[in-house]
Amino acid sequence: MSYVLVTGGAGFIGSNLTEALLRMGHQVRVLDNFSTGKRENLVFGEVYPFLEVVERDICDMTSCQRAMEGIEYVFHQAALPSVQRSVEDPLTTHQVNAEGTLNILIAARDTGVKRVIYAASSSAYGDTPTLPKKEEMVPKPLSPYALQKFIGEEYCRLFSQLYGLETISFRYFNIFGPKQDPNSLYSAVIPRFIDALVSNRPPVIFGDGEQSRDFTYIDNVVHANLLAMVAERTRGETVNVACGRRVSLNQLLKILQDIIGSHVSPLYEEPRKGDVRHSLADIKRAKAVLNYDPKVGIEEGLSRTVEFFKNMK
Ligand SMILES: NC(=O)c1ccc[n+]([C@@H]2O[C@H](COP(=O)([O-])OP(=O)(O)OC[C@H]3O[C@@H](n4cnc5c(N)ncnc54)[C@H](O)[C@@H]3O)[C@@H](O)[C@H]2O)c1
Repeated sequence: MSYVLVTGGAGFIGSNLTEALLRMGHQVRVLDNFSTGKRENLVFGEVYPFLEVVERDICDMTSCQRAMEGIEYVFHQAALPSVQRSVEDPLTTHQVNAEGTLNILIAARDTGVKRVIYAASSSAYGDTPTLPKKEEMVPKPLSPYALQKFIGEEYCRLFSQLYGLETISFRYFNIFGPKQDPNSLYSAVIPRFIDALVSNRPPVIFGDGEQSRDFTYIDNVVHANLLAMVAERTRGETVNVACGRRVSLNQLLKILQDIIGSHVSPLYEEPRKGDVRHSLADIKRAKAVLNYDPKVGIEEGLSRTVEFFKNMK
């Protein structure tokens, strides 16, 4: 059993990861200010005595230091996600995504944490035409969010180099699955599409729908994080976490329409600022460094996600 801290543990990815860690018998502390996360995300089918929830902000250094006490592994998921939100409010998102990450790294370094596993973002690649995206490509952030997440990644690398703190940064590519919020102004496309289709409303597509993404089911992300925890050593690497397959929004909608059995036509609206056109990961490094392979493909992941949202209704 290990002592682990999941920042942002009440969010979509953090809560799924927390549940997997608890199931494995680890002692999990969640640090979350519930700005986008929800308490109900931390209510699992089973009651786990080894779950501790600390309602604090990663922008506050003292809270970060206290949350690290006795911790061996930190899964740093807390952030204000959404490209759109960062375009509207670059300052607040910078404070959480960049400065909050620096707080976490300093607190981890100073309390003798063994390893920090950081949720970075594929948005760092920007709109460079070359596909698939390889980690050694020069980043070209197109939004404050992309830049802030990349700054976090660079801090992780530096903390490994300068202070010997073991870190690894995962560039997540469009993650989806149960517990992803469909109702926020900044919700991701899959929960928005599912919510619209099951309610017989037209899903909204920004742009012509031919933009594509490497949609990745949550279990693959949890799997990568667990592999990073047991890896012999990490050295500040950046690693793509994805499926290695590209699907356009129009194709995605078609798959979801077939699964749900609802064929409401979409509404096409203006493209959004800061969005990239195409995204596809090269996942060779994840294989080489962690022996990572995606476990669940997009169709199976979408079926499971639809099932979850239907049961919520
Ligand atoms: N979902 C994706 O497709 C995706 C893709 C790339 C990267 N990521 C990264 O993965 C991580 C998790 O994303 P998610 O989709 O689960 O988002 P989410 O919004 O569901 O979760 C983020 C969590 O962080 C918490 N949080 C926000 N600000 C905080 C603060 N100041 N102090 C403490 N807690 C705070 C929120 O309350 C929430 O519980 C983020 O770092 C995000 O940038 C996600």
